[in-house]
Amino acid sequence: MSTPNPKEIAGRRAAEFVEDDMTVGLGTGSTVHFTLVRLAERVRDERLRIRGVPTSIDTERKAREWGIPLTTLDDTATIDLTIDGADEIDDAFQMVKGGGGALLREKVVASISRREVIVVGPEKLVKKLGSTFPLPIEVVPFAHATVERRLRTLGALPTLRTREGRTYTTDNGNLILDCRFEHGIADPHALESDLARIPGLVESGLFIDLAHILVIGHPTGECHVRKK
Ligand code: A5P
Repeated sequence: MSTPNPKEIAGRRAAEFVEDDMTVGLGTGSTVHFTLVRLAERVRDERLRIRGVPTSIDTERKAREWGIPLTTLDDTATIDLTIDGADEIDDAFQMVKGGGGALLREKVVASISRREVIVVGPEKLVKKLGSTFPLPIEVVPFAHATVERRLRTLGALPTLRTREGRTYTTDNGNLILDCRFEHGIADPHALESDLARIPGLVESGLFIDLAHILVIGHPTGECHVRKK
């Protein structure tokens, strides 16, 4: 028998929070992948009626292919529930996101969501943000070197993200600077304010006070749900 996949356990469990007639934010990543699979099953088998708002081109493609009805932010003032992954989440439910490059759209969707459910495996739980994963920061191409210098003055060690030897470009045509912090992020609130004052910096992967429910899948097959 194969070992249970924590991402699959968390991703599928979170899909059970979705109710009929909801507008649902559809996050991005390998854990949300399983949420999409389960939501597609529920749409097909239970005739669940939902409107999904995808946070990336990848999620939009999967949702379309698997029959999850979609809408856009143009027609959506508020989202009932969003399900998304995280790269790190601490005890206060503050997060680092953007490992998959979708942080900008994910944050816009989170900002108008009544409830944000985060799906993770146990390796994403941290005591201090920035201790296991670099903080992704989306920048406009024109300003990336300027932003990079400013980030160094804040104690970050930025690296321009590449993929297969080429500069990585987000769904919005921007670049990503992955920022390491030698001793982790001491004060996430303060850092968020500092980052918001840098021209050319589009958005950071710091998600402060945006998560409400945490679903943790375990390799034992167990699933734990924590509420803020
Ligand atoms: C996408 O840009 C990210 O914010 C993802 O939500 C995050 O990287 C979690 O990804 P996995 O579920 O693939 O680990």
